[in-house]
Amino acid sequence: MSTNLAAIGYLVAAVCFILALRGLSSPATSRAGNRYGMIGMAIAIVITLLALPHARASTYLFILLALVIGGGIGYVVARRIEMTAMPQLVAAFHSLVGLAAVFVAIGAFSSPADFGITDPDGHIHLLSRLEMGLGIIIGAITFSGSVIAFGKLQAKLPPSIEKAFGPLQPLVRTAMSSRPILLPGRHAINMTIGALIVLLLLWFIAAESTVAFTLMTLLAFAIGFLLIIPIGGADMPVVVSMLNSYSGWAAAGIGFTLKNPMLIVTGALVGSSGAILSYIMCRAMNRSFVSVILGGFGETAAAAGELEERTVKAGSAEDAAFIMENAQKVIIVPGYGMAVAQAQHAVRELYDILTKKGVEVKFAIHPVAGRMPGHMNVLLAEANIPYDVVFEMEEINNEFGQADVAYVIGANDITNPAAKTDTSSPIYGMPVLDVDKAKAVFFIKRSMAPGYAGIDNPLFYMDRTMMLFGDAKKVTEEVVKAMG
Ligand code: TAP
Repeated sequence: MSTNLAAIGYLVAAVCFILALRGLSSPATSRAGNRYGMIGMAIAIVITLLALPHARASTYLFILLALVIGGGIGYVVARRIEMTAMPQLVAAFHSLVGLAAVFVAIGAFSSPADFGITDPDGHIHLLSRLEMGLGIIIGAITFSGSVIAFGKLQAKLPPSIEKAFGPLQPLVRTAMSSRPILLPGRHAINMTIGALIVLLLLWFIAAESTVAFTLMTLLAFAIGFLLIIPIGGADMPVVVSMLNSYSGWAAAGIGFTLKNPMLIVTGALVGSSGAILSYIMCRAMNRSFVSVILGGFGETAAAAGELEERTVKAGSAEDAAFIMENAQKVIIVPGYGMAVAQAQHAVRELYDILTKKGVEVKFAIHPVAGRMPGHMNVLLAEANIPYDVVFEMEEINNEFGQADVAYVIGANDITNPAAKTDTSSPIYGMPVLDVDKAKAVFFIKRSMAPGYAGIDNPLFYMDRTMMLFGDAKKVTEEVVKAMG
């Protein structure tokens, strides 16, 4: 295939990726966005295969084999994965991008002539050494950081897999805890390792040294691990989008080594969109990017075990149904528990019946509700809840004062007023939904257990609060039935 034709094909694929990102920015266009992404990826793969230099039949055979194995695993995982486990799946995928960057850099370093990155005297071009060095460092950090992020989001492994770690089991359990693990002197350790990596990179660029290459790779793996373990569960959303960004830059790094413009463009798109998403998430949680990286958010959540014994008012589905059908305005606040219970269709029925009875119903979405950006929007769209009744936090927060009922279904941290008032709270400063301003607040959850940040919610003990204990789907179905 001619270089010009390949360049045009890559351009078309790049435009598809940009359209995909644009489409994914709104639930109404997200399906079209996904389609653009798939078309772009198909074009990119076909052009890359056709434009392979020095390809032999065996080259295509190996690629086909890899496609079948990788595609097969991807297909099975995608079919089986629970919606609630998406964030850890994304973290696992990021780790693979990081590892791919490391492997490509190792391949290029061991046979640079095959990659066409050598001078006539057989040495690797100076610029290629820089690209390769940066690619392997970012790739290694992405890999080990994503493995830890996966662990923290997954929280525990199936017993059979855990057993395989033998005496290391307690260590694995600690690493997978959503609590921050704060090593003494961690900032000094990280800074020293960071400085060593920079020095080794300079040594590698200057002397093409194998020792420098190996050491900087090992240290990059270590710092990826050390950077993520002190980060508490509550900051994981930012970490996942940050690792998403790193995986993009790692891919762009490989693109330079492989001289593949498509990979550079795609990597840069992923890298920059991930960085913008991290910024948006930080703003949503009122956290600075630096404080996330330095870790420790969620530290006092360690005290979660000592939740206070206080009395709460528990109600029945019939009580809730009676109050809601006599209300004028109900705001539904979905959270992670709605996703766990797959209660979105029951919520749709609740929306339908209340609307039919003349009640104004709106949905309030917190930017970090659930376990991934847009988690609630996706579920509500799946249940065909109209987009025009779904509002972002800043659009709806001042309406809680006029609401008769806030129906909080499987949400906890995102409503916790301690974030506004309690300076000692680990989530202090995170903007929350003002459900406490509603005339009545219903909490649908199974127990008094805390949410992701591991902290108690003072709203449960308010006079105006009624707890509806039970599975989110079951309770909502019962409420609908009681109205019917
Ligand atoms: P959470 O604070 O985690 O609270 C969810 C609540 O749902 C829990 O208290 C749980 O209580 C309840 N629940 C679980 N399964 C249920 C079921 N089947 N039926 C009824 N209730 C159920 O969720 P949230 O309010 O959505 O806040 C999100 C949290 O996750 C934040 O701390 C955020 O920082 C973090 N986070 C967010 C993301 C993104 S990007 N969205 C990513 C990672 C982490 P019971 O066990 O008593 O039922």
